[in-house]
Amino acid sequence: MARLHIDQVSKIYTGTQRAVDAVSIDVDDGEFLVLVGPSGCGKSTLLRMIAGLEAITEGAITIGERVVNDLDPAARDIAMVFQNYALYPHMKVYDNMAYGLRNRGIARDEIDRRVREAATTLELGPLLERKPRELSGGQRQRVAMGRAIVRNPAAFLFDEPLSNLDAKLRSHMRVEIKHLQRSLGITSVYVTHDQLEAMTLADKLVVMNAGKVEQIGAPLDVYERPASTFVASFIGAPAMNLIPFSALGDDGRLGLRDATVATIGFRPQDIIEVANDNEDGDGLSLRFVVDAVEPVGSESYLHGKVGAERVVVRIDGRAPHREGDRIGIAVPSERLHAFDADGRRLEGWRTPDAVGDAGTAMRKTRAT
Ligand SMILES: Nc1ncnc2c1ncn2[C@@H]1O[C@H](COP(=O)(O)OP(=O)(O)OP(=O)(O)O)[C@@H](O)[C@H]1O
Ligand SMILES: [Mg+2]
Repeated sequence: MARLHIDQVSKIYTGTQRAVDAVSIDVDDGEFLVLVGPSGCGKSTLLRMIAGLEAITEGAITIGERVVNDLDPAARDIAMVFQNYALYPHMKVYDNMAYGLRNRGIARDEIDRRVREAATTLELGPLLERKPRELSGGQRQRVAMGRAIVRNPAAFLFDEPLSNLDAKLRSHMRVEIKHLQRSLGITSVYVTHDQLEAMTLADKLVVMNAGKVEQIGAPLDVYERPASTFVASFIGAPAMNLIPFSALGDDGRLGLRDATVATIGFRPQDIIEVANDNEDGDGLSLRFVVDAVEPVGSESYLHGKVGAERVVVRIDGRAPHREGDRIGIAVPSERLHAFDADGRRLEGWRTPDAVGDAGTAMRKTRAT
């Protein structure tokens, strides 16, 4: 087991384009780190540099006490689990799990002990004599995990290991992987583009965008305090509503005249339905026009507009709203997020200090 230290690491494949751009991340011993971001943002590239499957253009990667930049993959003491599992189709489960150990010349008894122990942990005991084609997707996944576990590596690397599974199995395997990682206590880096998977698995979440780190933090902290409009719209489903500040109308902007707020955000579930949008109080109050109702049972999502801006809100499933309804919605001030013109989160923008003498909280407003 080991710490992993990624220091100002970049990757240039060709030309000057950086697939990974000066990324620095620390993974503590036994920690489960998840890299999440849209397709092409550099997640796999970073993972492959950690594994030694891709050369590091700039920066340094340290595993334990060793800088591994120039070490072969085999010498890095790391196990990688890929999306397609890469099991040997002609070998039994037992041999798939034992293969890497035999290659290293480990004694037969020791191999047998490790394979059976891993098989017990993964509930693969009864399947050891089967071939991969005789297994379900989830079982194959577990064999791939088993093959990694028997090596007793310093760290696990996962590249979208669940993306080939159906939704139900995926959520089941998610729980299993988390449980397994916890009980083994092995430092892990897990790559996914699925924000829900990222939120549920991670001890520490890294949100990447276009080769760069947008934010690092505990999943709920990232969710509660997204560092940028990118993170705000990427983490959480349905996505946070982001409205240009200028669309709020004069009333709303008044109190924030001196601030640098460019975008206001609120999550669909953070609204309160109000009978009368002229109510006083801190926060934002808006007139919302419903153009589609999406009932999911316990709750409904209303899609519609505030002024010209698209907004999604979540309401109780029994609320009787229909297309064309106009309703008042309010967002409490502590549930509002504010971002500057570069999309960076603004802190303290609600306090008198941050906005100057002009005002305190953003008061009721109405989209025009
Ligand atoms: N071998 C390569 N040669 C040149 N460019 C590459 C190579 N591999 C990846 N890239 C480019 O580097 C960027 C990052 O790719 P990467 O595979 O790391 O993305 P990713 O975040 O894993 O995406 P996905 O979620 O689709 O798997 C992309 O623009 C990609 O086209
Ligand atoms: Mg990838």
